[in-house]
Amino acid sequence: MIEILQIGQRLVRDDRVMTHIVLVARAFHASKIYMHGNNKHIKNTVKKINSTWGGNFEIDFVNNWKKLINTKKKSYKIIHLTMYGENINYACSKINNTNNMFVVVGASKVPREIYDIADYNIAIGNQPHSEISALAVFLDRIQQGKQFLKKFNNAKIEIIPDASGKNVLKNN
Ligand SMILES: C[S@@+](CC[C@H](N)C(=O)[O-])C[C@H]1O[C@@H](n2cnc3c(N)ncnc32)[C@H](O)[C@@H]1O
Repeated sequence: MIEILQIGQRLVRDDRVMTHIVLVARAFHASKIYMHGNNKHIKNTVKKINSTWGGNFEIDFVNNWKKLINTKKKSYKIIHLTMYGENINYACSKINNTNNMFVVVGASKVPREIYDIADYNIAIGNQPHSEISALAVFLDRIQQGKQFLKKFNNAKIEIIPDASGKNVLKNN
């Protein structure tokens, strides 16, 4: 089971970045994302995506992330993605056999204590980039691409991979 938590808020609310994190988490087969505050627009987007493209990806909004992490710590490994962490190339083998992962990404500056609460602080390279790219690369590395062979249940629309154009299956 892989769950994601995004902590912190950007100075200017950016629904597009939030939506893209959610889309990456779902498309790469995490099962749930927790985000800060409350955002009806993103909740609705998740509902529509699940209904059209299948699966039952979940989203929840939290204000007390510390409480949530401490609860999750009992049954999940807490993995914090940060450019200051251990390079994924060396850290990946340590977490490969972990069943339950609770992956934390930041939005803006991340409080110091998260580095101590985390079981692993992992860098997707030691250069700054974004929570969207960090999450995508991490989820791909730990699942070794196998997530792309999994199906989403009850999809109304399914893409049939095609090297030469669009091939879409519509399920009733
Ligand atoms: C825009 S960055 C903010 C970084 C911020 N300056 C800090 O001190 O944490 C937002 C998030 O993207 C993720 N991120 C950015 N670059 C990363 C990297 N090289 N490796 C892992 N995660 C990264 C981290 O989760 C980070 O909290």
